[in-house]
Amino acid sequence: MGAGENIVNPALVAALQTLTPTHDPFLKSLEAYAAEHRVPILQPESAQLLELLTAMKKPKHVLEIGTAIGYSAVRMAIAMGEGKITTIEKSPEMLELAKTTFENAKTNVVFEQLEGDAAEVLKHLKPSDLYDLVFIDAAKSHYKTYFDLVTPMLAPGALVISDNVLFRGLIADDQPVDKRFKTIAKNLKAYLAYLMAHEDFITSLVPIGDGFAVSLSRK
Ligand SMILES: C[S@@+](CC[C@H](N)C(=O)[O-])C[C@H]1O[C@@H](n2cnc3c(N)ncnc32)[C@H](O)[C@@H]1O
Repeated sequence: MGAGENIVNPALVAALQTLTPTHDPFLKSLEAYAAEHRVPILQPESAQLLELLTAMKKPKHVLEIGTAIGYSAVRMAIAMGEGKITTIEKSPEMLELAKTTFENAKTNVVFEQLEGDAAEVLKHLKPSDLYDLVFIDAAKSHYKTYFDLVTPMLAPGALVISDNVLFRGLIADDQPVDKRFKTIAKNLKAYLAYLMAHEDFITSLVPIGDGFAVSLSRK
């Protein structure tokens, strides 16, 4: 069962994916690579929403936490047209693959790749750099840490998008949670409660893919 199918019924997931085909050959090649090598990239319907939100926001500077092969970064770059994406990744193998992706992407967006554990890298970002859009898609147990570290670096009216927040539906109370996933589910539930109660943000939880939280800064 793919992620998403425990959130929205499988037939509807299949329909959404059929209705959201990828036409761009470069993006298709990234999707094929990810499927073949089991790299967890955004599902097409989530990628489409990320692209739409990016196009609406028109960010000059994006911060991404969790690059993998660079698929979501390229989807945002397509929507931006120009500007800069700073993206953080801890796996040297993924960093190399993403470097090739960014070299081959036909875009005017500048990609800056930062290597290391996201929480550590975030602590050392230039405080003078402000981000209009942040996409969180890395270690699910640490989303609150990431969110709190990026909050002081947000431009006015910034958008923070967190992926996987419904985590295979396991954040629902009635779901039996496998021992391996208990901490992640518990931390994500706490993160969602924190986001929804945060007075400086208006947040909507979207049951698409593995679940998006879309948070707009009121400041
Ligand atoms: C779900 S994938 C990102 C997918 C990508 N955003 C996309 O949709 O194309 C998560 C990535 O985060 C990286 N990651 C996991 N924990 C991390 C951490 N603590 N610091 C930095 N990167 C991390 C993993 O190596 C993996 O490549």
